[in-house]
Amino acid sequence: MAKVANYPLERTEIAGVPVTRLATEFGGTPIYAYDAAKIAERYADLKDFGVVRFAQKSCSNLAIVTLLRRLGAKVDAVSAGEIQRALAAGYMPSEIAYTADIFDADALDLVVGDAWGCVVNVGSPDMIYQLGTRLGDRARGFELTLRVNPGFGHGHSRKTNTGGELSKHGIWYGQIHDCVQTAEHFGMNVTGLHMHIGSGSDFEHLQTVCDAIESIGLAIGSRIKTVSCGGGLPIPYCSGEEFIDLSQFTSLWHATIKRLETAYGHPVELEIEPGRYLVAESGYLIAQIRSIKKQADTLFYLVDAGFTHLVRPMAYGSYHPISLARNPENASIPSGEVDAVVGGPLCESGDVFTQKEGGYVVTRRLPSANVGDYLVIEVAGAYGAAMASNYNSKFLAPEVLIESGVPRLIRKKQSFEHLIANELF
Ligand SMILES: Cc1ncc(COP(=O)(O)O)c(C=O)c1O
Repeated sequence: MAKVANYPLERTEIAGVPVTRLATEFGGTPIYAYDAAKIAERYADLKDFGVVRFAQKSCSNLAIVTLLRRLGAKVDAVSAGEIQRALAAGYMPSEIAYTADIFDADALDLVVGDAWGCVVNVGSPDMIYQLGTRLGDRARGFELTLRVNPGFGHGHSRKTNTGGELSKHGIWYGQIHDCVQTAEHFGMNVTGLHMHIGSGSDFEHLQTVCDAIESIGLAIGSRIKTVSCGGGLPIPYCSGEEFIDLSQFTSLWHATIKRLETAYGHPVELEIEPGRYLVAESGYLIAQIRSIKKQADTLFYLVDAGFTHLVRPMAYGSYHPISLARNPENASIPSGEVDAVVGGPLCESGDVFTQKEGGYVVTRRLPSANVGDYLVIEVAGAYGAAMASNYNSKFLAPEVLIESGVPRLIRKKQSFEHLIANELF
């Protein structure tokens, strides 16, 4: 039977550490806490893939990137900053893949300079031309990976669809042949294919993705040594939702790789590039309820975290489980449950954690609470802190990593001096 998620409505601790301790000892709320054991558990799930490449965009704190390096993951970087983060976390250039649809000047400088030897996964024909031109004689023998847009996509929202004619990502499947020739013109060699479509647990769709990569792989021929099936492995965000059947996911990809290996007569390495799967469940955003107010029939829990700290509900209408952690300083404990809208502190009507795609505000069944209690926004490790911003001059939240029951500060709360450090007046 498939495993089903079950998120609590109330909690007292995270990975063995009292929520109240996390909320008060590391710079206050809002604060992100990560459970290292959950990351290790999810990494171990993926043992049947030749390479697990962490998509650090999902959670790019150096301590998290370093943790994944120690577990054995390689790393994906989508910008010059992420290449530098990977190097700072102790990765060798050969363990880093730069995946993007353009080279900006900084990224191109790094790829031909300090990060020489990193995998370059190109998402546009211009990248091949620019790299070849920049490398000149050094281009001879340089191995490239192509990120392919197979002409169709998939995604949990229109904003996350990663393929098809209207997606900006990857090299259009009809232009693969020209790209291989352009690379050859510079003396470079296309040795890898990459497709990030994110079919997740839609196995019928996944088969279509596997078929697309197989036919492109066969058309390019036996120079291909690696195939990356990208990221997009889902995790359940709602109680009652099933976890993905990883064995079915893996066996579809293994069958595709086997057929390519038979056709080529040599081994092909299968890579997976997850972000969310590795880190989402490990992360918790703890916020304090600062006001409880009622407007006509609608009750609001207003907390001190906003979309500057977790943008997914505002950007995509994403659902996150929310639990209550009571503050022992509150003398009374109200009983029962209520339907409440959970909103943040920002001067924006969209600053609401309980909303659906399209911006429709909804209520959530939550325990009755007092001002001063804490709400824990769960499954927030992926695209949480990594997508935070300083809008409304809100400070970035501190982050804590819990290993074997011991919490360690891995990001200080941002200070006002840091907030304005690059501003000149
Ligand atoms: C190229 C690429 N690889 C991997 C990922 C990670 O996806 P996920 O976090 O859904 O696994 C993304 C996400 O946008 C991506 O664009």
